[in-house]
Formats: sequence, C-alpha cells, structure tokens
Amino acid sequence: MILDGQDLAPAVAAGRSEELRNLIAYHNRRYHQLDDPEISDAAYDLLFTELRHLETRYPELLDPDSPTQRVGAPPLEKFQSFPHPSPMLSLANAFTEKEIRDFDERIQRFLGRSSGLFPGGAETIAYVIEPKLDGVAVNLLYEHGALVTGATRGDGTTGEDVTLNIRTVAAIPLSLLGNGGLPIPKRLEIRGEIVIATAAFRVLNERRLEAGEQLFANPRNAAAGSLRQLDSRITAKRPLDFFAYAIGMAADMVMKTHWEVLAALKAWGFKVHPFARRVDQIEDCVQGYGELYAAREDLSYEIDGMVIKVNDLDLQDELGAVSRSPRWALACKFPAYQETTVIEAIDVQVGRTGALTPVAIMTPVQIGGVTVSRASLHNQDEIDRKDIRIGDTVVVQRAGDVIPEVVKVVTSLRKGTELPYAIPQTCPVCGSAVIRIEGEAAHRCIGIACPAQIKEHIVHFASRGGMDIEGLGEKMVYQLVDAGLIKDPADLYFLRAEQLLPLERTGEKSAGNLLRAIAGTRSPFLEKLIFAFGIRHVGESMAKILARKYAALEDIMAATVDELTTIRDVGPEAAKSIVRFFQEPSNLQVLAKLKTAGVAPINRLFSASTEASGALSGKTFVLTGTLERMTRQEARQLIESRGGKTSESVTKKTDYVIAGTSAGSKLDKAKTLGISILDEETFFLLMEST
Ligand code: IVH
Repeated sequence: MILDGQDLAPAVAAGRSEELRNLIAYHNRRYHQLDDPEISDAAYDLLFTELRHLETRYPELLDPDSPTQRVGAPPLEKFQSFPHPSPMLSLANAFTEKEIRDFDERIQRFLGRSSGLFPGGAETIAYVIEPKLDGVAVNLLYEHGALVTGATRGDGTTGEDVTLNIRTVAAIPLSLLGNGGLPIPKRLEIRGEIVIATAAFRVLNERRLEAGEQLFANPRNAAAGSLRQLDSRITAKRPLDFFAYAIGMAADMVMKTHWEVLAALKAWGFKVHPFARRVDQIEDCVQGYGELYAAREDLSYEIDGMVIKVNDLDLQDELGAVSRSPRWALACKFPAYQETTVIEAIDVQVGRTGALTPVAIMTPVQIGGVTVSRASLHNQDEIDRKDIRIGDTVVVQRAGDVIPEVVKVVTSLRKGTELPYAIPQTCPVCGSAVIRIEGEAAHRCIGIACPAQIKEHIVHFASRGGMDIEGLGEKMVYQLVDAGLIKDPADLYFLRAEQLLPLERTGEKSAGNLLRAIAGTRSPFLEKLIFAFGIRHVGESMAKILARKYAALEDIMAATVDELTTIRDVGPEAAKSIVRFFQEPSNLQVLAKLKTAGVAPINRLFSASTEASGALSGKTFVLTGTLERMTRQEARQLIESRGGKTSESVTKKTDYVIAGTSAGSKLDKAKTLGISILDEETFFLLMEST
C-alpha cells in the first residue's frame, strides 16, 4: 500500500518515514551487499515511492541520509580538496612467486623473529589475501555512523571531495548498521574501491555507442570518469559499485586483526570481496595467487592482482611503512591485459540492421593467454578521435571477457607511411549507398535487399505493423533465407508450396496457410507498405503521415526533400532518408519486383482537400466503442475527407452512429432516437463507396 501522506499526523509521518528508511536500508543491503534480495524489485520500488511521497508532503522529514537522496544534486563548479585524516598509502608491487616469498622473508628479518614465534604462538606469519580490484580508491569518512565525506585518493595526503557523487552509490551505506552489537567508532575512515561490474560496463558502453558518445576504454576509466563528474545527477545514472577493504583512522578501535576488520566492514553494511581469505603462511598466499589468476576471467569485476596483508594489526604497526608503502602489504600483480601490435588493415562488417562497423585487422598478439588479431573500431568517429591509421602501432587491451579494444596509437612510432581511414561510401556486402544519419554515430547501408540485413528486413516487412503476414515470423524467415528461397521481400510472393515442404516443421497444410497469408497481403494499405520497407526514421506514424499526404506510392517516390519537409512532422533527416531510399537502384528493383508480383497498395487515408468528394457533406457522425481496423482519429479523418462532420454527442441532428465493440450509452441513445447505426464493416463499405 502506498500512503500518500494525505492525512497523516506529522508525528505518524515521521515515524513511518523512519521505518521506511530502515526497511529500504535493510533491503538495499540484502540486494547490494548480500546479493540475496528478500523482496521483489517492484515491492522495493513501492517502499521507495511511499517514502518519496512522504518526503514531498512533509519536507521537514527530508534527511540527507535518506535513500531517496541518491539521485544526485545540482552540478558543482569544482571539487573542494580534502585532506585525508590519515594518509592513503600505496602498495609495493610483486610480479613473481619468488617476489611473494621474498616479501615474507623481508618481514621475518625485519621483525628479527626468524627463529622465534609469531603472534598466536605460530611459527609462520598469518596473512589475509584479497583481490586487487581495478577501480578507483576512495576514502569515506563516517562520524557517529553517518557518512560525512567521500574523497578520492589524490596524492595520498589530499584528495578531492566527491561526497555528492559518493552518495549516489547504492552499495555505500549512508549510515552504518549496528549489526551484532559491534560498536561503531565515533570517527571512522573506510577505504575501498569504486568499481563497475564487467557486465554493467558493457551495457554502459553499448548505450554510449548508440548515442554516439565517446566510449570508455575499460571499467576503471568508466568508474573514474563517473566519480569525477561535477554533476552528481550524471554519476547517479552510472552503475557504480563499491567494495571496502580497509579502515584508515578509527577512533576507539577494538579489532585485533585485519580479518576482524573485514568482518566489521561487512557488519556495518559494506561489501567485502568474497574471495578474501585468511591464510596461515606465505605458501598459501602463493597458492591463492595462482587460484585467483585462474579465476580472473570468471569474476564479475576486473582485478589486476592480489593483495597480501599481514593479519595481525599490532604486527602491522610494528612493521610500519617505508616511504609511502606499508611493509606489511604487497600487491601481487597479474600480467597486463595490454600489448602493442600493428594495424595491418581495416575491414568493414555490416550488421543485421545495416550499421557498418570498421574492424582492425592486426598482427596477432598474445594478451593474457589469448591470441588477439581483430578489434572493433566501432565507428568513424572513434577512429578519428583516436586518429587510428592503417600501419599504426597501437596499444591493444583485452580485459576480462571484454572484447579486445584498441586503446591508443603509439604516435612516436609513426613512420609517415600510415594511411588514414575513411569508411566506404558503398556497402561492401551489396554495393548500395552508405549514409550517415545526423545524430547517429553509425554509417548504414540503405539496401533493402542487402544480404547482411535481409533476414531482419524481411522479418520487419512481414511484421504486424508492416504487411502483417501471419505465420511468417523470425524462424520461418531465417529458414527461407538460409535455404536460398528468398533474397528480398518481393521473393515472398513468388514462393511455391513444393519449395516450402522440405523446411522444418512445414507440412502441406502449413505451407498452404503461409502461401495464402502471403497472397492475402497483395493489397496492403499504403501506410503499411511504407512502414514495411523499414526506411530509417519512418515508423508507423510517419508512414501514416506520408499516406495522408500522397495518394500513391509513386508520388512518395517522386517527392523531393524540400517538398517532404513542408509536411508537418517530417523533419529534414526523415526527408533525406526517404529520398535516399527511393533513389537507391537496388531498392527500386525490389519495388518493381513487388509490382510484378501484384502487390498494389490501396490508400484509405488520402485526404488532400482538393480531392474531397463531399459525398457526405452535411452528414454528422458520432463514433463510439472501439474500432478494430483504425483509430477513432483515422475514422474521423476519413469522414472529414468526404465532407462529413463528426460530433462527440448523439442528438436528434446526428445522421449516423458508428458503433465499434463495447459501445455504451451513445449507442443506447441512438437506438432511442432512432438514428442509423453502422457497424465497422458497414462503415468501411460506406467510406469505400464515397
Ligand atoms: S589496501 C595500505 N586492498 O590498490 C594499503 N588496496 O596501490 C592500502 N586496491 O590505491 C590499500 N584492491 O586502489 C588494498 N583489496 C585491496 C585493494 C587495494 C585494490 C588498490 C587501491 C590502492 C592500490 C594500492
């Protein structure tokens, strides 16, 4: 139930909003931290909506810590700098197993206990190993359990205050949970990594590609870019996530080991990476390093290594730091996912929607155990922005299961013989013209019979909004194309039953049905046929607009851009797209073939005023109920195009009432007044005869 706060006493509203915040925080944690939601997304949304209603109605209840406040705030001019209460150190690196063992030896030597016992009576040093997440390190300051500041690492001493952005990250608790009676230090720094999951990163980049926006090179760049947005409303839309891995300064801390720290982080409501393990000795770290490396590609988040930390906090203190790195921790890096190679050629692929994608063909190179020789260059804009030329030496990366990507050109290695690239002006698959629609990043082939797109084209041609051929769905179209029976939409009308019989799940009966369904679409409404062509920018409503303006397909084919743009609702891009479509010779061939096949559209919408017959002049119509074949708006236009009038209410002056299904009181009134009542079919017959 949603309480809209209409009649709640302020005290009740306050109580309820508090309750809702707690509930939402709890379910947030189940979802984000524990990955184990208890309620559906819809039920969660309901709680959220209720809280938002309450806060709108009682603004005094609005609390900056409310989960409703994660949507971002107006943009900042710049970030303030933030001196970290305790410095954010960096880690010493290791690249080999030997270096991992050396690390342990160094610690033993430093402690001078190579012969004695370590805390807990052990003879070896206990460590915690964790994945080294490849994101952006942040420092979160909590006071009395409430998030006060979130800052980037900066130079380790001073970072940037990105609190508004941090607050939009759902995995970061705005106030800490007091789970299990664990005390929350009065002032507490939480250290962790802002990341973006590989899958979410891919979706993010796909959207940016569609929108013609610059792509992010990898999840880390995307996370960093999102975190440093001056407009936190943009950050709020990015799929940022957070894992905690340490505590900085903490007033009155009671933990004795790093393992307890991780447990506390979880209890307070943070996510801790599930791979984190406590181990008894350095050999377990070496083994963990191998295991993590093997699991690397399967993880949901990108990692660039493993971090080893001495578990005992007193021991950590004793070890201290050298320059800016602690002696008690080590980053064991994995081999980079980047290599350099040479672009030998640029190929073009034509996708099923006609988009041309340039693909770099590179000298094969091993990256993280996989041979890479091709990488999508996405579109001409990306090529231009990175200034990629054929012959260039480039940095290529392959991260996780993310597809290989050309990161940048090594311009210092240019010889001057490299060739700039321009996407072809004709389709490499069918030779039709290639155009680029303004506002879109992709170049597209406009051939209706292009083999690369033919399946999609025919599926669209036969779809409900198009020719509406029953029984001709995606599966059937694919079979017909794969069997070589159709190469363009017009071929459908030349199919014979014996050609269909060998197809999967096609008997005499279904073949007959399909052929009848196809033949039954030889007299389509003009707007359906136009829509069926799949011209870019011509959806169902645009097709209707055209059919209303032009009596015949030939008239549309002859229209110029200037003429089309005089029509309301036809913009310059749509006009250009229409003209180009009908200029393309291969499309004209298909149209001619459709004509030969006997496909002849009829125009029921045409209503140019000069041609109005006026046959219905002086007649008043009232429409009631639902019409099957057209909207009321269309019916009204039909009547008006013949000189008739329409009215909303039935009176003695009404000449006809057109009754669709579930007609109500207007129909009753018409009956009482003895007015002529037409059903939909009769109405059509009347329209056809006038
Ligand atoms: S601990 C003093 N643990 O690695 C120890 N760091 O060079 C402070 N990182 O800037 C860091 N995952 O961005 C730690 N599990 C992890 C980590 C981790 C990633 C990053 C962090 C830091 C850099 C250290």
